[in-house]
Parts: sequence; C-alpha cells; structure tokens
Amino acid sequence: MSEPDRTSASELPPARDPWEGDPRLAEFFGDAWAQVERFHRMLVDEGELRGLIGPREVERLWERHLLNSAAVVPFLPESGLVVDVGSGAGLPGIVVAAMRPGASVVLVEPMERRTAWLADVVQATGLQNVEVRRARAQELDGAVEADAVTARAVASLDKLFRWTVPLVREGGRVVALKGSRAADELTAAAPVMRKLRLTDGAVHRAPTIEGVEATYVVTAVRGGAPRVR
Ligand SMILES: C[S@@+](CC[C@H](N)C(=O)[O-])C[C@H]1O[C@@H](n2cnc3c(N)ncnc32)[C@H](O)[C@@H]1O
Repeated sequence: MSEPDRTSASELPPARDPWEGDPRLAEFFGDAWAQVERFHRMLVDEGELRGLIGPREVERLWERHLLNSAAVVPFLPESGLVVDVGSGAGLPGIVVAAMRPGASVVLVEPMERRTAWLADVVQATGLQNVEVRRARAQELDGAVEADAVTARAVASLDKLFRWTVPLVREGGRVVALKGSRAADELTAAAPVMRKLRLTDGAVHRAPTIEGVEATYVVTAVRGGAPRVR
C-alpha cells in the first residue's frame, strides 16, 4: 500500500495567477497601471507574511481583489474627496487612488498593523493623493466631508450606512462593493436609509474585463431632492 500524501496545502507552491502577464490588465488600468502593478507585487511578496491576505488569495489577486476593487471606480467622482472606510490591505482605496488621480483619497483603517502597511504602499507606489488615517469610521463624524465614501467587505449595508453617512457631504454618495446578495441587503437597510435621509438607493452590476465575474455596487445619496408633500 502506498503512503498517503502528507503534503499540506500551505506547503504546496502557490498556483499561478491566471491573469499574470495578461496584456489586458495594462490596457484596462491605463495610466494607473504602474502603481497598480507595484501594489500587486507588494501584495504577492508581503501580503501573506504581514497577515493581510490568506495564502490562497495570492493566486487570485487580480480577479478577486484588484479588478474587483476597480469595479467601483466608474461610480466615483473624478475630483473631490473620496474616503475608503475599512481599507485593510488597501482595497479598494489604493486602486481608487491610482485610477482617480484628480481626487483626494483618505484611507480609514483602525488597525495599526494595517495602517503601517498602507503607508508603505503609498510610499512605494508614489501615490500623491492619499492620506492614511488610523481610526474607526464612527470616530470621524464631523471630521471629514466626503463627496463619496467607499467600502468593501466591512459591514452589512445597514451598519455601513450608519457608520459612513456622517462622513458624506449633503448630496454626496455612499458607494459600497457588495456580492450577489446586494439587493436583499439594500431592501433590509430601507428603515435605516429613511432615518439617515439616504435616497436613490440602487444596485448596479459592475463589470471590468470580459471574462471576469461582474461584481455589484450599491449607491445611495445623502439627502437628495426635498420631498414634496
Ligand atoms: C474584512 S476586512 C476588508 C478589508 C478591505 N476593505 C478588503 O476588501 O480587503 C474589514 C476591514 O474593516 C476594518 N474595520 C472594522 N471595523 C471598522 C470601523 N468601525 N471603521 C473602519 N474600519 C473598520 C477592519 O480593521 C478591516 O481592516
């Protein structure tokens, strides 16, 4: 009888990211390519070591993380202030900053280890439009007035709205990257939206490159047009 294979998953060499070397990436990211590529390289080299991503994420960084983050960009203004709440490893905030060079981007993250990483990424990529703030979103009530607040994988929509609406200017937007259950979450958040005067809640299918699974983006506007009685 042959010996069972005792090689654990963590001992196996990482599988190759199928997007590695694909010329469509540079085409898609355009002027942001050098910075996004540098960020990707840092995540490959240090992401797991610094506890930012799981071991199996390295081989799917492009599709699941970087392209997924880029899906939010068309919903954001070209200029003004964009705040990314719960940036973690820099998703989507670093990708947003690279693809929206005319906007100022504030990355809000409470964990010191992660803000240290974000500062390293900003320095290595040379991004000039990013500020890293170590804080919980709730602590910035009144301290920022964003044109848009983004978030990915931070909290359910009702909680996220409660945390982020105080950071958005009147008429500004919450722009959340969500999975396929986005519509259900938006329905469940209706009472909170009314209370916070969030209007025009919508779920958008947000594709990036053909062949990449499209993600969903939820948008809602603070205030909006006054209701006519
Ligand atoms: C699951 S991670 C997602 C990170 C990143 N957005 C991504 O998509 O990979 C959630 C992040 O939200 C941060 N976080 C948790 N509570 C927060 C709060 N109240 N305000 C801001 N960030 C928060 C955590 O520290 C963590 O980095």
